[in-house]
Amino acid sequence: MTSSAASPSPSSRPSPRGSSSPGHGRRAVVTGGAGFLGSHLCTRLLADGWDVVCLDNFLTGDAANVAHLLDDPAFHLRRCDLVDFVHVPGDVDLVLHFASPASPVDYAQLPIETLKVGADGTLHALGLAREKGARFVLASTSEVYGDPQVHPQPETYWGHVNPVGPRGVYDEAKRYGEALTTAYRTVHGVRTGIVRIFNTYGPRMRPFDGRAIPTFVRQALAGEPLTVAGGGSQTRSVCYVDDLVDGVLAMAASEEPGPINVGSPEERTVLRIAQDVVALTGSSSQITLVGRPVDDPEVRRPDISLARARLGWEPRVPWTDGLERTVAWFRSALQVPA
Ligand SMILES: NC(=O)c1ccc[n+]([C@@H]2O[C@H](COP(=O)([O-])OP(=O)(O)OC[C@H]3O[C@@H](n4cnc5c(N)ncnc54)[C@H](O)[C@@H]3O)[C@@H](O)[C@H]2O)c1
Repeated sequence: MTSSAASPSPSSRPSPRGSSSPGHGRRAVVTGGAGFLGSHLCTRLLADGWDVVCLDNFLTGDAANVAHLLDDPAFHLRRCDLVDFVHVPGDVDLVLHFASPASPVDYAQLPIETLKVGADGTLHALGLAREKGARFVLASTSEVYGDPQVHPQPETYWGHVNPVGPRGVYDEAKRYGEALTTAYRTVHGVRTGIVRIFNTYGPRMRPFDGRAIPTFVRQALAGEPLTVAGGGSQTRSVCYVDDLVDGVLAMAASEEPGPINVGSPEERTVLRIAQDVVALTGSSSQITLVGRPVDDPEVRRPDISLARARLGWEPRVPWTDGLERTVAWFRSALQVPA
């Protein structure tokens, strides 16, 4: 498989890390940059020669996720609540708006914060992009499709969301964010792009964030039963984080408005994912079936024809490789000997 793995810009400034696709001293703001996806984006942008301003209030993220970047003079970490007014001095070429609680456990515990960052936080991030004339990319989500009645999900599908269900705070915040982003493009001419991100996994996920893969890996490494919801026949399509970063940066490098789905089209049942985790960790854990959360989607798979055609992007890291790297990271983070 191929991936454009596009760097957002060509460069004249040599990359501090000798990357093959350096930037040219351009400046990116990554909101939610101390989170799982944000920290990988910051790392990649710096490797490509960008200056990076990481804005985060550490609500669900952690400065430890970007600790490896703190000595880089091109990296600036600023504590900032996006819900308040945001000001970044100097030029900004790119705003990647990733701030938001993202796991069902997080947004169930932080419903108002989730709505506020999706609404006011997005307004302020868009305002920053408008002020600076920067390209803006909104991290939207496959959750805008809700429990989908069309499968796989193309961008033209409007979704099947329960606004008053337990996932409504997240799904509707993201749907509102997409509408606001579109309005800033049409009214203010901001060069916006919307990516609809499907389930992504990899190093730096939190072991207790409630998402399936970190939960299964943590349980397998601890020798505890893996808790599979329902019968486990519901499906997910999971994308390794390096591929996701490639897709987001390809979107940033383009002038596409989106929305464009970014995710893996390889669909697996949740039970199969659990079985693969047990096999790969060599764990003696059993699999137990537990109650299914309300409004848990039955199926999930992106149609990525648009990403292939417009961004030249598709995932390339095989599932077993991505899972192996993820397990290795969790072993080290949780100090479980191999
Ligand atoms: N991980 C996925 O599979 C996935 C899938 C679809 C969409 N997304 C989207 O990608 C983005 C990042 O997700 P993630 O998995 O990295 O989650 P995460 O929780 O690890 O990261 C989110 C970051 O946003 C920060 N944040 C939250 N509210 C903030 C505020 N008001 N001001 C400043 N910072 C704030 C958090 O502290 C955290 O560092 C989210 O917008 C999420 O909706 C993620």
